[in-house]
Amino acid sequence: MPVMEIILGIESSCDDTSAAVLRDRVLLSNVIASQDVHRAYGGVVPELASRAHELNIVPVVSEALKRAGVSASELSAIAFTRGPGLLGSLLVGTSFAKGLSVSAGVPLVEVNHLQGHLLANFVRQEGKSVEEPAFPYLCLLVSGGNSQIVRVDSPLEFKILGQTIDDAVGEAFDKCSKLMGLGYPGGPVIDRLAKQGDASRFAFAKPHIPGLDYSFSGVKTSLLYFLRDRMKEDPDFLEKNREDICAGFQKTLIDILLDKLIKASRQTGIRDITIGGGVSANSGLRERILAEGERRRWRTFLPELKFTTDNAAMIAVAGHYKYLQGLFAPLDTAPYSR
Ligand code: KG4
Repeated sequence: MPVMEIILGIESSCDDTSAAVLRDRVLLSNVIASQDVHRAYGGVVPELASRAHELNIVPVVSEALKRAGVSASELSAIAFTRGPGLLGSLLVGTSFAKGLSVSAGVPLVEVNHLQGHLLANFVRQEGKSVEEPAFPYLCLLVSGGNSQIVRVDSPLEFKILGQTIDDAVGEAFDKCSKLMGLGYPGGPVIDRLAKQGDASRFAFAKPHIPGLDYSFSGVKTSLLYFLRDRMKEDPDFLEKNREDICAGFQKTLIDILLDKLIKASRQTGIRDITIGGGVSANSGLRERILAEGERRRWRTFLPELKFTTDNAAMIAVAGHYKYLQGLFAPLDTAPYSR
């Protein structure tokens, strides 16, 4: 039997500490410790995130190796998220990866967090045969920090075709949730309430941005003024119409995302479409993208929910491809925030 490479992935770019082990792209383990500490503050507090990563990193990596039945010295490489993200958080994962690399005598591979999201569909799972997108494909990358349409030419080559010029779509979900007193993170709450609402009752302003770029700050302002005006007439307006407001607001965001994705597919002639990032967990977006895909004869690939949010399996799969190319990172590699 041929020797297969075993890659440990380490992810710590924001508020999830994660470690995963892949053998020849097959997932052996994927451990994630999320941080609830930020909920009370209505957003991620960088200093608290770094401290939580420090507490979590050793148990999370140990558990991932244990579940995979692999010892550190058996690893072919350690892939870690180098950036972009919160610098303090990235430092924890990067420093830990370096320490383990030296102690176990295993080479390091640095991974761009976004590249991980782009390649999430290439994580294989035992007993599941899943079709993979063909290169080049388009990825709609939507999270709390990004809203991009990316053309993925190969595992290691990609081009950003369009991106937000202001807020990310996840930020729009989070800020508007806060505005409506619905808590943090806003996306899952709005998603849940929108399911019970009528999306056709309220519409919000859509931006007119040329090319394939996005803008989401205007929708947020549109919701703010809408609520201010309606609540002047009826202070209980929000209370009475919460589900319909969420449904209309979510539909507006999805319309904006889909308009540009359809345009990108038309312009490039590419019909293999994937999504990634925290917002790609949104049930409305998943339904709409599947429906549009059917109408437009796209091959649409929706990663499982556990691979849409921050996770180390996607970092390990990106690391797998870099390892095969011999792209190792020196020990003095420093993380970057942007
Ligand atoms: O990729 P991710 O976990 O990390 C960051 O980029 O921070 O994405 C987090 C974002 C948050 O803005 C959160 O509100 C959003 O993803 N999100 C969702 C859903 N689940 C998470 N947005 C819409 N619908 C969801 N179901």
